[in-house]
Amino acid sequence: MLKKIQCVVLILASLYEVNAYRYLVVSPIPIKSHAILGDALVDCLVNAGHEVTYITTFVPEKLPSQVTIIDVSENIKHLPTDETFNITTVIDNTNKINSIVYMISMMMDISKATIQNPNVQKLIADRTQKFDAVISEWMLNEVYAGFAGIFNCPLIWFSSVEPHWGILQLVDELPNPAYTASLSSDYVPPLTFKQRVTELYYQITERLIKIFWISGLEHSIYNNLFVPVIRDRHNSVPPFEILRYNASLILSNSHLSMSTAAKLPPNVIYIGGYHIKSNVKPLPKDLQQLMDIAKHGVIYFSMGSTLRSKNFPDDVKKELLKMFGKLKQTVIWKFEEQLPNSPSNVHIVQWAPQQSILAHKNCILFITHGGLLSTTETVHFGVPIIGIPVFGDQFVNVARAVKKGFALRVDLSYTIASDLEIAIGEILNNPKYTTRIAELSQIYHDRPVPPAKELVHWVEHVVKTRGAIHLRSPALMVPWYQKLYIDLILGTVVIVLVSKYVLKFIHSILFMKRKEKVN
Ligand SMILES: *[C@@H]1O[C@H](CO)[C@@H](O)[C@H](O)[C@H]1NC(C)=O
Repeated sequence: MLKKIQCVVLILASLYEVNAYRYLVVSPIPIKSHAILGDALVDCLVNAGHEVTYITTFVPEKLPSQVTIIDVSENIKHLPTDETFNITTVIDNTNKINSIVYMISMMMDISKATIQNPNVQKLIADRTQKFDAVISEWMLNEVYAGFAGIFNCPLIWFSSVEPHWGILQLVDELPNPAYTASLSSDYVPPLTFKQRVTELYYQITERLIKIFWISGLEHSIYNNLFVPVIRDRHNSVPPFEILRYNASLILSNSHLSMSTAAKLPPNVIYIGGYHIKSNVKPLPKDLQQLMDIAKHGVIYFSMGSTLRSKNFPDDVKKELLKMFGKLKQTVIWKFEEQLPNSPSNVHIVQWAPQQSILAHKNCILFITHGGLLSTTETVHFGVPIIGIPVFGDQFVNVARAVKKGFALRVDLSYTIASDLEIAIGEILNNPKYTTRIAELSQIYHDRPVPPAKELVHWVEHVVKTRGAIHLRSPALMVPWYQKLYIDLILGTVVIVLVSKYVLKFIHSILFMKRKEKVN
């Protein structure tokens, strides 16, 4: 009997092997939340039986045998230091990370460092390496398209945020700024007149930055670092502009329950929430007990994994503790240090199993920095939030949450404790926030297949159909002057002018003839 079962298992396993693909996953941004998304992506692919070579900054501790790590942990040194970027510099408005120009140049440095990293160099120089597709995170430039040129395989972009013009123009046309927010904006459509004009301004300036600055850097990175390798492998070297616009798919880490409905070509797929496991890990015993007995509910406070709470100014820390102490609720505060004299209802934890806490039925409010992972998880588990945005997409995530009606925004400032007190009072006493998040959570969960499955399906679809050309929008191929029918307009003008001239000419000949006759 045992032999038979073994046999069946072997046969099944061999069938499974037939559909195993090899992916190169490029997710080297040295920011923890991006690495969580990268790890989860690798996890989905491995669970579906595929092999993955994974370029990452944070090497995971446990690794399945199908994963080969390409370690680029040196990328960490390209992040802003603790001195230039921490909670106090944000409060004082002296940090520069919120400038798009700063972000662009930081991400460009990271892209270049990644490709130059000796481990990556070894990978691309190895002519025996073959992949069925490259899946690369998009972060303000497209240089990683070069990997698809090297391995001569389909390219899939992974975008950590909801679709915006920078990513949509790679597979379709530029979205209309009158109702599509750009990456650096925190407006949520429908837009007012002023917002519409600002969005137009953003799109134009960002396009100019792209054309006159980024594009040059991309080309030089491609020519210096990719072209020699491609030439070594293949007979012809595709131009960078071809590779840039040759993506088969965009995986968008967002979902309509959290974002604005957008016009998308069929190769842009929402996968928001794929990083959340369907069975949440149980809480550690002490937290489980703490949450079980909290009869007035639990407020969970975390500023995410990048900001260090220890950089909160001391006075602000004291006031926060005092304010939390006045509440009936139990407060779980994720904080890297123990605070003296904390009130009995405040529990400081250095590390928090966030998903397990949000999943507990007594968790009634989440105070968060509004990172995309946190806002996704809060919709998944149905907990209203108070958002304290600090940088990047946190502003738009919180703005969206406020507009959707399940959040209040509080700004990081020296008066944050009293501002938070008011917001907490409002959310706990007005049931509309909890009702709304329950509605959105229902929308979020009501999908034909869970996002992790959908992700795997589309990625496999690209490989099976050799690049899924049938999903591509024809708009990508049509130049702007043809879309605006400038050629038709010019043609018509020319025909009108020419015919006018010809008519005049004929007229003048006839007229002259008649004149001659008269004479
Ligand atoms: C563009 O993508 C398709 C589908 O993945 C692929 O067959 C083709 O070789 C790619 N073109 C270039 C120049 O890499």
